[in-house]
Amino acid sequence: MEKRLEGQKALVTGANSGIGAAIAERLAAEGADVVINYIANEDATNALVAKIKSKGGNAIGIKADVSNEDQVNAMFAQMFKSFGTIDILVNNAGIEIHNFLENMTKAEWDKVIGVNLTGNFLCSRAAVRQFLKNENRPKSRSRGKIVNISSVHQVIMWAGFSSYCATKAGINLFAQSVAQEYAEKKIRINSVAPGAIKTPINQNVWSDPKGMADLMTKMPYGRIGEVDDVAAAVAFLCSDEADYITGTTLYVDGGMCLYPEFRFGG
Ligand code: BGC
Repeated sequence: MEKRLEGQKALVTGANSGIGAAIAERLAAEGADVVINYIANEDATNALVAKIKSKGGNAIGIKADVSNEDQVNAMFAQMFKSFGTIDILVNNAGIEIHNFLENMTKAEWDKVIGVNLTGNFLCSRAAVRQFLKNENRPKSRSRGKIVNISSVHQVIMWAGFSSYCATKAGINLFAQSVAQEYAEKKIRINSVAPGAIKTPINQNVWSDPKGMADLMTKMPYGRIGEVDDVAAAVAFLCSDEADYITGTTLYVDGGMCLYPEFRFGG
């Protein structure tokens, strides 16, 4: 694999499973030293670190709750101690809690906002503070890059998941505003918006034939996404091939946003 990120230092939040794990592996395969942030399941983190190392890459695991300011700051301090700086932040940690508004508790709302949106803010702020100190980074024309893992639900409304949709839409305009603030400092901030990707978060859908059949009606491209589909898009946005791209969203969704019902008539 081409080493587009050789010598760079990356942090991927929520990276010991699903999309985050695939991103961590991909960035390491392209030559980056990677921090695998996690909140639970230390065994899975250690296994991923070992897998990356067995392929000649470099990774460490750091436990931190991204919604907690002190833990985020401690994680970045530990990363700088081990790796010296940061070039790439992938804000991947995310949760969804199903509930309709009339029953939604404040605790459920706070949890989703805390991880998905406040976590993005806290990690982005810590990364940007360090990016501003970066000069002449290897294989990077920019001082630093952030890629947010958003969702098609930054534009597609989703009954029962209004808190999740609020965070994904929020991430979009937060990221674009910050991209505007820091473009002149040569910091790039983009999002990748996956559709239905086969991960533990939506296992109830893809493990059920009826769920899969329903999903395919929403999926013009005719297959569920794989984590590597997302990881490839993230690696591209982190690389110098995307040096002129900032403040945008790359949808990786098999056409889910294309109003697929209209295939059958308007
Ligand atoms: C959600 C998945 C869902 C997909 C498509 C993602 O953001 O995390 O649970 O399958 O959107 O609706």
